[in-house]
Amino acid sequence: MNLENIRNFCIIAHIDHGKSTLADRFLEITKTIEPRDMKEQFLDSMELERERGITIKMAPVRMNYELRIKNNESNNPHNSSFILHNSGSKYILNLIDTPGHPDFGYEVSRAFKAVEGAILLVDVSKGIQAQTLANFETAKKSGLKIIGAVNKVDLNPPQLENVIKETAQLLGCSENEIFRISGKTGQGVEELLAAVIEKIPAPSIKDNGKSALVFSSLYDDHKGIIAFVRVFGGEFKAFENTKLIAANEKIKIKEVGYFSPKLKPAQTLKEGEIGYIATGIKDPDKLRIGDTIGDRALVGYEAPQPRVFVSFFPEDSDKYEEMKKAFQKLKLNDPALRLEPDSSDVLGRGFKVGFLGKLHFEITSQRLEKEFGIKTVNSFPSVSYKIKKQNQKDLITIDNPRDLPEEYEEIWEPIIDLELIMPASYLGSIIRMKDDFRIGDFDTQTIGDRVLVKTTMPLMELISDFDDKLKSATNGFASFSYRIADYRKADLVKIDVLVAKELVVGLSRIISRKDLEYEARRMAERLKDLLPQQQFSQAIQIVVGTRVMARETIPAMRKDVTGYLYGGDRTRKMKLWKKQKKGKKRLLGMAKVTISADVFKELLKK
Ligand code: GTP
Repeated sequence: MNLENIRNFCIIAHIDHGKSTLADRFLEITKTIEPRDMKEQFLDSMELERERGITIKMAPVRMNYELRIKNNESNNPHNSSFILHNSGSKYILNLIDTPGHPDFGYEVSRAFKAVEGAILLVDVSKGIQAQTLANFETAKKSGLKIIGAVNKVDLNPPQLENVIKETAQLLGCSENEIFRISGKTGQGVEELLAAVIEKIPAPSIKDNGKSALVFSSLYDDHKGIIAFVRVFGGEFKAFENTKLIAANEKIKIKEVGYFSPKLKPAQTLKEGEIGYIATGIKDPDKLRIGDTIGDRALVGYEAPQPRVFVSFFPEDSDKYEEMKKAFQKLKLNDPALRLEPDSSDVLGRGFKVGFLGKLHFEITSQRLEKEFGIKTVNSFPSVSYKIKKQNQKDLITIDNPRDLPEEYEEIWEPIIDLELIMPASYLGSIIRMKDDFRIGDFDTQTIGDRVLVKTTMPLMELISDFDDKLKSATNGFASFSYRIADYRKADLVKIDVLVAKELVVGLSRIISRKDLEYEARRMAERLKDLLPQQQFSQAIQIVVGTRVMARETIPAMRKDVTGYLYGGDRTRKMKLWKKQKKGKKRLLGMAKVTISADVFKELLKK
């Protein structure tokens, strides 16, 4: 197929505005998926994606489409003459479905390098949200042609015309250029597909040599690393020798093909196309996203930067090797994970893992348990800090509170640029959150009847329970997006936790000095309830250096647990004995205090 008949595009939207559902309709219309194989949100193939209803990994798919549209479907006169002229032409449409959550923004920006255009989808019941703006701005910067569409019109909401107006203003186009669609019923969807063909430019040849840009990857036991590529020049075939440029690694291609959306082998993969190259490489560190396969390097991508760091140890230290294997497997398909060996006197060998954000961390630890059956003990999520020591020019970076030197002159923490969109009536609720979350000054703008607030916040506050508090303060009507902006000098202090005079590994935290007294007291109180009881009482102390800031006592477990029961209720007694036995068993494994992930979650709450 010649270049004129290829279109590469993605769908961008705020979370839950209906990308995956629209993609389902495209798959149906183009008959890419047989009706009997169709299931909702087809491209979200990962078990967790289906369970949580969110897209985590981007999924490319190639669709064959013959341009045809029924006359009565054309409610948008804008592209009717184009359809008339080109009706019957056959096209290859490559769609990349991308995740919507800000943690996975780097996936979206990678997808943008592989396509020429995007559909910007806005849920009519929600209007423009923070991620709509963030994705739109990145797409515009990448030079993509953007088509606006307002989704879920089947809901028939009264604000339809307002949302169309908002969207047209954002895109800088007229209101009749915005498509009105329903991914659910299919209304207007075929027309939108026709607009993709009409408005998004066909790929052009950017390179006379041979080059394919790697934008994602997958691991296969037999074929090694499978690189997802956009070919910018030349063509690729199985069994030919070529090179991974940045890695300086010769490869013999095992197979090429495209996404149907399952991997489908093909004879060749040509310029302008999106597909895969099976590299045969087994070592995941060799293939980096943004590398080029071919003769000459194309402009690459920035490597994803981990922002949140958590140390993981197997609950049962004999399971270290198992945990290591599981992490390595996860990393093969999630190149954004950063792994470094870690160790602790109490918990043994483990890994320090770098994540893109809190959701990325939560999803990975869930996958570890669900897909590999491994239970872990982890440390508090931490951001990375820069430390200036006395008489030293260079800043050192730490991402575990444990590594904070006893003496230092300055500590710097990462700051995010934060954008919030909400109905104007909730502005007061957000202002009330300012102190707790150390939110900066507001710069406000109006979007229809809502406000856009631009401000700053320390990243550490984002990984506490900012999202939950925002949701409850605004009844779920506010949305946010963020971008790491800078490091800023801050007044921070490290607190440690001692239980029965022993330092509890992983519970150390770096917090704002202004919150010290309050946090110390609260942490002691919460730990008293959260930590398991023993058969003797134990002191909890929250300390800064050697100074005790707060203390509590975990009372001993009751010895005679059945003493207060009357007469012969044997089944109830049995139950209690069993419980006590369990407690004893727990005690045996409790020479160390292990902390479950739930405890951290509780402690992070403001
Ligand atoms: P992420 O992948 O998490 O970013 O979400 P998404 O943008 O892919 O949204 P998804 O397609 O998963 O849809 C979110 C919810 O909206 C689901 O419950 C869909 O059933 C619903 N939905 C999607 N499109 C429509 C529509 O046209 N009309 C109605 N009424 N509901 C829709």
